[in-house]
Amino acid sequence: MNFKPESCRNESEVISKLIVGYLLPRLGYFPDSWHQEIKFANKRLDFFRLAAPVITFALDTFTLAAPVITFALNKVKPIDIIIEIKHPKEKLVNHNRKLIHDLLKLNARYGLLTNGKELKIFEKNTNEDIRLIFECPGWEVTTRINEIRTVLGRAGSTPNNKTAVSLTKDIEKEPTSPASNTSAAHSKTSDASPQKVTGNEIKKVSNMKVIAIYHNKGGVGKTTVSVNLAASLAIKGKKVLLIDMDAQANTTFATGLIMFQFEEDDNIKNNYVYHLLESGDSNFIPEIVRRSYNFNTPELYVVPSHINLIEHQDKLNKIAVSRSRLLLKLEQVNDKYDIVIIDTPPSRDLYAEIPLIAADYLIIPSDLKPFANQGLNNVKKFVNRINEYREAIGRDPLIVLGVLPSKISTNSQFLKHTFPRQKSVVPERYKLPLMESIIYERTPLSNCLNRTKEEYNEEVPDKSIFKFCELESTPSAKQAAQDFELLALEVLNKIQ
Ligand SMILES: Nc1ncnc2c1ncn2[C@@H]1O[C@H](COP(=O)(O)OP(=O)(O)O)[C@@H](O)[C@H]1O
Ligand SMILES: [Mg+2]
Repeated sequence: MNFKPESCRNESEVISKLIVGYLLPRLGYFPDSWHQEIKFANKRLDFFRLAAPVITFALDTFTLAAPVITFALNKVKPIDIIIEIKHPKEKLVNHNRKLIHDLLKLNARYGLLTNGKELKIFEKNTNEDIRLIFECPGWEVTTRINEIRTVLGRAGSTPNNKTAVSLTKDIEKEPTSPASNTSAAHSKTSDASPQKVTGNEIKKVSNMKVIAIYHNKGGVGKTTVSVNLAASLAIKGKKVLLIDMDAQANTTFATGLIMFQFEEDDNIKNNYVYHLLESGDSNFIPEIVRRSYNFNTPELYVVPSHINLIEHQDKLNKIAVSRSRLLLKLEQVNDKYDIVIIDTPPSRDLYAEIPLIAADYLIIPSDLKPFANQGLNNVKKFVNRINEYREAIGRDPLIVLGVLPSKISTNSQFLKHTFPRQKSVVPERYKLPLMESIIYERTPLSNCLNRTKEEYNEEVPDKSIFKFCELESTPSAKQAAQDFELLALEVLNKIQ
């Protein structure tokens, strides 16, 4: 069902046809959550305040009675949505100030302003700064529903059209007493099983698991772990997608995708991870993904990165929805891959936020040296911030699989005396789980990531540690491959 702006002749038709009949069900807000409020508003409903994960109340602007506000503020979540509806003949621009005032006064995060012909979404950030983050004409609401959903939607739940239609009818027929029908609507829409969104459709979530490899310190082995864990899982028969979210593009390089020597031959810059984030309704994963080259048997599926990613950060930062685009696009391919591994940059900026929003699980590689260990506090704070956002979009908190000891010296004295102390700090001081696997410092691991033309005086493609072993089966290479096999087993065990 499409929304048609011309069907709205007055304010109440904007409410019934656009907001209640179309938008709210597609954002995942269920009819049973608002029937009482419609009764409460009595005559008309032109002001909602929604607190995720369920609507706590919806009110007429003129009935903002103190007890109800208090109730809502007590329950307030990081995301709050105010919706103000105007007559189709009213110009929205005349109402921006009022909405901004309401956002500040009610301490809400998002404000949606619409007259049916136009729709605008404002966001208040933590500095009380309010920005227009989305706008479109009414006739584009249907095609851009995914973008609206990434900002305002309850993730993972989208009631079907049937419910939306019946609710509209309820309101049109009996605006003050829809209660008799809402329990039936509830039983249809409150199905506890997870749902996913593809375009305007609903599909069951498959078993695809998304794992981010993250630490805000560089050089701790994130890329080495990402590519070799992905390779190990692929060897175990899993269909693995590897996503490079770091502008350094080391994963892209490691998987053999940078085959050009000169800029004019660059075949990545027009089709890499940025393009996934740039648009909500085009550039989907199947259009961006490539096969790794001479890297592993079987080869991996890779979404590459590019140094130009850095340049786009400011632009993407201005579009709040870009934060959830990776999550949405992964949901669209969740029947195509078993496991997604995301290599992340050593930062706490947008490019680190995006993978941690999209992931189900987190692995934190750390060499356990003082700086990396001290950095664990920052990782924890960052994860808490991400979890606030995830809660706001109705997503469960990130599951931390653990801190993975990485680049650990094989020196026996070190392993006897220092390593146990370094390890114990992780759960004791930083209250983070420690993984059982250990990735030791082994030269073949750095060779298989860093080997260049100069060293070998010929074009030598990069390799996973497993492929490397096939060619140079030294004890150290075999041990390194075994480290990664054990890691893959631990991961598979923990994510099932
Ligand atoms: N287990 C390891 N053994 C030997 N060298 C390693 C190991 N892990 C990483 N390295 C090397 O350390 C450097 C940093 O590793 P990398 O995986 O790029 O870290 P990050 O992605 O966290 O910046 C690279 O030169 C890499 O080859
Ligand atoms: Mg890296």
